[in-house]
Amino acid sequence: MVSSYTEFTPPLMKTAPYKDPELPVEERIDDLLSRMTREEKIGQLGQVSMADYANQREIYLAGLKAGRWGSRILAETAWAGNNAEAALNVIELNEIQRVAVEESRLGIPLLYGRDVIYGHRTVFPIPHSQAASFNPELIEKAMTCVAAEASSEGVHWTFSPVLDLVRDPRWGRVIESYSEDPFLIASLGCAAIRGFQGTTPGAPQRLLACAKHFAGYGGEGGRDYDTAEWSENTLRNFILPPFEAVARSGIATMMTGFHDLGGTPVSSNRALLRDWLKDELGWEGFAVSDWGAIYDLIGHGVAKDERAATRLGFTAGIDLEMTAGFYERNLAPLIDEGEIPESWMDDAVSRILRAKFRAGLFERPFTDPGSASRTMRRPEHLALAAQLAEQSVVLLKNKRDILPLDPALRKIAVVGPYAQALREHLGSWCLDGRTSDVTSILDGLRKAAPDVEFLTADAAFSDAMINTARDAELTILCVGESHLRNGENKSIAELVLPPGQEELIAALGRLDLPLVVVDCSGRYLPSAASEACADAIVHAGGLGTEAGGAIARILLGHANPSGKLPVTVPRSSGQIPIYYNRKTVGKAASFKDRYRGYEDELLKPLYPFGYGLSYTTFELGEARLSASTMTSGEEVTASATLTNCGPCRGAETVQLYISDPVASTTRPGRELKGFRRVELDPGASVEVSFKISPSDLRFYTANGTWEAEPGEFRIGIGADSTVPLPLTLTLCPVAPAPQSTDELGS
Ligand code: NOJ
Repeated sequence: MVSSYTEFTPPLMKTAPYKDPELPVEERIDDLLSRMTREEKIGQLGQVSMADYANQREIYLAGLKAGRWGSRILAETAWAGNNAEAALNVIELNEIQRVAVEESRLGIPLLYGRDVIYGHRTVFPIPHSQAASFNPELIEKAMTCVAAEASSEGVHWTFSPVLDLVRDPRWGRVIESYSEDPFLIASLGCAAIRGFQGTTPGAPQRLLACAKHFAGYGGEGGRDYDTAEWSENTLRNFILPPFEAVARSGIATMMTGFHDLGGTPVSSNRALLRDWLKDELGWEGFAVSDWGAIYDLIGHGVAKDERAATRLGFTAGIDLEMTAGFYERNLAPLIDEGEIPESWMDDAVSRILRAKFRAGLFERPFTDPGSASRTMRRPEHLALAAQLAEQSVVLLKNKRDILPLDPALRKIAVVGPYAQALREHLGSWCLDGRTSDVTSILDGLRKAAPDVEFLTADAAFSDAMINTARDAELTILCVGESHLRNGENKSIAELVLPPGQEELIAALGRLDLPLVVVDCSGRYLPSAASEACADAIVHAGGLGTEAGGAIARILLGHANPSGKLPVTVPRSSGQIPIYYNRKTVGKAASFKDRYRGYEDELLKPLYPFGYGLSYTTFELGEARLSASTMTSGEEVTASATLTNCGPCRGAETVQLYISDPVASTTRPGRELKGFRRVELDPGASVEVSFKISPSDLRFYTANGTWEAEPGEFRIGIGADSTVPLPLTLTLCPVAPAPQSTDELGS
């Protein structure tokens, strides 16, 4: 059978060296660059959305023939995740690509980008929940499936992972971000990138990845797009390290944020992008602006018009402009008038071509229209999505071991706004998941426990819910904030459940019957009513298409919860910002117990970073160090024995924390430096160990260097971030190099 895919496949012309896949990528880039006109080069630096393609088709295809664009974003609006989007159409994508590769002068393929943030048809948990798994290997496998599904529909490039540091949970975009901890962000971000990109450049069924939002996004007061006021110390120690880690591990692209960073919008920040990321780190990928972020330089008030905005954005080091068309209109005159060196344009074009060559686009520009049906929702994708969903659940409270549900229970009420919800489990950056693929919590329970009678009630009427609860032996109240209240451009001023839900929890609590609250919010919202009335609190936010089954298995004890909080949960909005890796308060040492923090609130958070319960109990033996001193080039091992002392198999995430009590700058009270998720049978023990080397102790010093300062470090191993740090490790100074006889003599 001749498919349109094979008809579209061009003969592999080896007439020009850049078309020869056997040649090294750098040679292909040089050859192609040498053949390009100025207009063709500038064309590669622009991305277009091709909005209203059906009606504007001829205009777009003519533009492609002329080489006007290098990339197409497969989205209709800047905040695609919040809107229902048109489904992908492989035939249309192939038609467009055919014009680029067969009818443009040099046949450079178009790069198709889409926000495939945490799932495609199989939707995995939102990244904020994924992070609770503390399981990079599983996240890597999950993102491999996402890449296979998205690429089967013609996507080449995803705008994921999100490496933003979460310090204000009122910010709607926390749901896309992993954590408040840079070590965890870097570990999970690198894992996601391995999943998306694979290790062999250009392998089929992979995507180019894009780390975002470079750098320091997550605005003041939790407001999206707003100014960020990070100090140099915070920027270097907390915000940039995950970006550095992914740059060093070969991420293909990065996206700059919309925000102002201390007086310079990041999309015009040359020091961070061109000087640090590209020149100092030697990162070879390309930078893309966020949607219209170069246009926004006018809104920020640092550029008076589009020409000035182009100059600032391009000088900063943004290679590809998402959607505004400023580069197309303004780069040539800026180069002619000497405001932008021509070599910078060539560098930017080379970076984009490098990504296209490495992705194998010149060899495989088209997508087989038959491949989507063979790839979507394969059994192994569903199994991984279910596994990651289970591992993303955090059990926050379990009074009198009310969970797992007693198998003797015969009548259980499952009520609340999330009892039968479907779309809500897909989270707010989900373009391609289908509501019809989602299992609700109620259906998940009915399927997993067919002998139990699950009663339910209309989600809108609390009277009906209360009556239903009265008829049952136990109530599962499913609450949460939906995708309509978080995500891009959707933030909240008070960190609380949506209106009415606290009252509902309290009303059911007053019945004095067993109550389990399942909170499906995409973030961790404190709930005073749940703390006061619920016997158990389960957090299960945005778990994806497999949500219902995963939640049911956890509640019934067919799976044991193992998730750990990737952020600190405040008691109230007034405690924000509150994060475990805060600096030590100077006065706390002399004031001791008299240092209270607030008169009207506790200093302690509601739940600490790294916390999460299990149905079994684990004991960690005393932590040990293989040596109490370390010099440059050496490694020391910290270890402890973990035992499962409880009744069932379970997983514990063992966490290594280190503090640097005396340094040339103030330092966090403690920092996560390692973690291991370990599964054990009841009664089993295992030795968990972490290697520590001087490089783990580095930070941004008072001298502006990134290094470890000799001295004492405190170390602890535990099951959450409140663990004591009983061990001392001394980092010895590096002995001065012996002077050469010449120097001695001179
Ligand atoms: C705006 C968002 O900030 C960004 O994360 C997303 O990738 C782009 N729009 C493209 O949709």
